[in-house]
Amino acid sequence: METIHVNVKNAPYDIYVGGGMLSKTNYLWKKLKLSSQVLIVSDPVVFELYGKKLIDNFSFLGIEPFVHCVAQGEASKNPDEIFKIYDILVANKYSRDCVIVAFGGGVIGDLTGFAAATYMRGVNLIQIPTTLLAQVDSSIGGKTAINHKYGKNLIGSFYQPKAVIIDVDVLATLPERELRTGLAEVIKYGVIEDQSFFDYLSRNKDKLGVYQPENKTIWIKIILTSCKAKAKIVTIDEREQGLRAILNYGHTIGHAIETITDYKKYNHGEAVAIGMVGAAIIAKNRGLVDPDVVMRISNLAKYLGLPVEVKGYDASEIINILKLDKKVKEGKVHFILPKRIGLVEDFADITNNEIMKALKELEGTK
Ligand SMILES: NC(=O)c1ccc[n+]([C@@H]2O[C@H](COP(=O)([O-])OP(=O)(O)OC[C@H]3O[C@@H](n4cnc5c(N)ncnc54)[C@H](O)[C@@H]3O)[C@@H](O)[C@H]2O)c1
Ligand SMILES: [Zn+2]
Repeated sequence: METIHVNVKNAPYDIYVGGGMLSKTNYLWKKLKLSSQVLIVSDPVVFELYGKKLIDNFSFLGIEPFVHCVAQGEASKNPDEIFKIYDILVANKYSRDCVIVAFGGGVIGDLTGFAAATYMRGVNLIQIPTTLLAQVDSSIGGKTAINHKYGKNLIGSFYQPKAVIIDVDVLATLPERELRTGLAEVIKYGVIEDQSFFDYLSRNKDKLGVYQPENKTIWIKIILTSCKAKAKIVTIDEREQGLRAILNYGHTIGHAIETITDYKKYNHGEAVAIGMVGAAIIAKNRGLVDPDVVMRISNLAKYLGLPVEVKGYDASEIINILKLDKKVKEGKVHFILPKRIGLVEDFADITNNEIMKALKELEGTK
């Protein structure tokens, strides 16, 4: 088991990463001196696969957690589901020192995190992320949120967990497309701040298309490196006032593509992959990077089964969507652009023409 310390102000915590971690929960419970009043929030797919293992582990401590399953899928990040969690907590007299466990992907993490942040003005939260995306991204950094009917993640808070427990073994059952969506964020960490990690991913790319237990050490290294990168960035900029913006690399065009396709054609990581190549193209056209950098990012993403081209959408409509994005500050669309693999910078002066040109090139990147 490896530990990463996340030194956020006033609420530092550790991320525990390894194989067989679900069976070590009891040990961590004792170590962290957590209460026996536990609510596990999960989804039916995850709970069917791994619920028994987790519950059995709690039984060693004589703890019988209350389990609440929420339908899988983005639609569950809504106020009704939050109130259902409050109802359980109130009905069962959960007190200020209770523990709420988010056991699932990013949907469960965001929903449960927001419930924990708001019940009694904040109770203990433990994240046990089970998708690659949740393990390398959404469970770390303290962002919790639910959706509003007019927009995703509009209601939320920054709220740090007491611990994040990452069991790499659960990736064995994760559908390949879900694995790939997480890999897009993994590639992102390489591009934004760690060239040697990008090289490591490129060297091992033939082992990453599917999760194979014999490659566990590679996956553990990938998760650890990604968590360390995110932990470092969010520690410096907990509330997204500066540096944290670099995590948005690939997300400007990515979000516009998710929006224009009504969140149906591409999942998040797929849209981000296209966006990372798009941003690299803008950087190349500005002379910030050699064409080789675009190719390296594009080739790695493509090899891992991620799309790197987008066709058939009206470029001016994409630009209109960009202007409505949350990342627009003082009327300017912000783009995180690579200056090399392992270094990016925030640019607020990208013109419509540059975006148009990049979208045109995205129609046929090889
Ligand atoms: N808070 C943040 O900083 C942050 C960052 C990125 C994304 N997010 C949010 O995360 C959400 C997406 O999360 P996600 O990609 O994890 O999707 P998800 O939570 O919807 O999970 C995807 C699917 O995988 C299944 N699943 C989960 N673990 C499994 C396993 N081990 N084996 C088999 N199936 C498994 C789930 O049942 C679900 O059907 C979005 O709502 C997004 O807004 C939040
Ligand atoms: Zn993302």
